[in-house]
Amino acid sequence: MLKRIQVNGFRSLMGFSVGVRPGVNILLGPNGSGKSNIVMFLAFVSAVFERRSASKAVSDFGGAGRIFSRTGKRNPVMRIDAEFIGEGVIHTYKMKGGGVSSKYRYEYRFAINFSKEIQTVYFENQEFKFAFCGTPQNSRGRNNSDWDFHIREFASIVGKKIEFNHEIQKMNIDMLGSSTSIILYAENEKKKNIERAISQIIQSTHQPNAPILYAASLCFPKFNGVISDLSQNKVLNIVPEIAKNSDDSATPPEIEVNGKGLAATLYALELEKNDMGIQSNIEENASLSNFEKYGRPHNYRIADAFDMIEESLKSISDNIISIQPEIDHLKNEITIYVKLKMNGGKVKFPLSHLSDGTVKWLALVTSIYTNRSIIAIEEPENYIHPLMQRKILDLIRNNLRAAGNNGKPRGSMFLTTHSETLLNSADPSEIVLVSMTNSGATRTRRIKRMKDIRDAANEDGFGLGHLYLSGVLDYV
Ligand SMILES: Nc1ncnc2c1ncn2[C@@H]1O[C@H](COP(=O)(O)OP(=O)(O)OP(=O)(O)O)[C@@H](O)[C@H]1O
Ligand SMILES: [Mg+2]
Repeated sequence: MLKRIQVNGFRSLMGFSVGVRPGVNILLGPNGSGKSNIVMFLAFVSAVFERRSASKAVSDFGGAGRIFSRTGKRNPVMRIDAEFIGEGVIHTYKMKGGGVSSKYRYEYRFAINFSKEIQTVYFENQEFKFAFCGTPQNSRGRNNSDWDFHIREFASIVGKKIEFNHEIQKMNIDMLGSSTSIILYAENEKKKNIERAISQIIQSTHQPNAPILYAASLCFPKFNGVISDLSQNKVLNIVPEIAKNSDDSATPPEIEVNGKGLAATLYALELEKNDMGIQSNIEENASLSNFEKYGRPHNYRIADAFDMIEESLKSISDNIISIQPEIDHLKNEITIYVKLKMNGGKVKFPLSHLSDGTVKWLALVTSIYTNRSIIAIEEPENYIHPLMQRKILDLIRNNLRAAGNNGKPRGSMFLTTHSETLLNSADPSEIVLVSMTNSGATRTRRIKRMKDIRDAANEDGFGLGHLYLSGVLDYV
């Protein structure tokens, strides 16, 4: 899980740092303070990973002009420096049963640069460090410089070409347990030769301009948890007009960040509930891999998801009876119908005839339950009735709280909001106050006098939203 992010050079994120807490992290601040830039940065890094290319990700996000910070200087440096600090737990299962859990921590750093000489965006340098640090209960008591793996990469422009070179500074094979193929390959070899082989494998499998973690994880699959923290991070921003649409029956059951694919997802979930034997089919597509996203486990069975979503929809209004996904084989279309009580009878409406708020709520709930890639939700309150806004935080909190972790959240999620109602259900520990300095840089801070604020928010039933609007949070 990511614990801290530091960025310099991405839009308004200059000299920027934010701590990520398990559970909900609510970004709260005035218009233009940089809340969206923070979540956009996470999506950008995710694109760098998924595209395996810094330059492709920059063009996906609108080009260098939109991504690099503008400082007003004549000849600006176009360079993003970022650092990610995180930790995680790896469970190793033994053949004879049982298993061990080991805790790890990592640091990953990169500089993405735009070279004016060759008009290219590239990784100027990267550094990755990884260490095991005991079991979840007992730390190994190692000091911070004790890494089990440490690699650095440097790029240099030679003529019109970029050359990438890497240096492995540390490699503790006994701890890292390299992948089976490498063990076989080097079985009779001395440790030194294994190290050399690994270095060669990294050199030959690393795609220039891709995150170095991919080549490293080929040799050490234990790094996959780190890749998972930094990739598949999407920002949810539902557009009811899009979520309302019917889907082609071949649409994969994966709801996209704007709500597209809602019909196909609900249809697949209903089949799953009725155990129609498509499990293996569904498992192959992105929806299920999202369900199972490493480090963000869910605490319910997929077969129960449809009923949970239906229950959530019914909480909007007493008139809603059920959700009915239907497939029209002639038109090749999946449409979601909602059955409502009306004048003592029942009517069935397609989603396209329902209100924006109803559709938004359905898409929001379905996304939260099924799309494991969501790292942030932009202004979830839009279109949503205050009574339902109150439920949003509980929905997200419950979903992040994985079974078997003493009710503590396992994953993190960011929200941006302006809603007083939503804030009234928030705890001071969930708030990240965002502001902008005079020079246009985004800053964050947490509430310090947590107990005082919590007491004040509870007093007379005035919530945190009220305190925020009255300006109290600016001074704590
Ligand atoms: N390339 C850039 N370089 C520097 N600053 C930028 C760049 N692009 C955008 N900004 C700054 O970021 C601000 C917008 O930030 P952002 O959209 O994250 O605000 P927000 O907090 O989400 O606001 P809202 O509450 O209105 O959604 C702009 O006003 C501008 O000051
Ligand atoms: Mg915004």
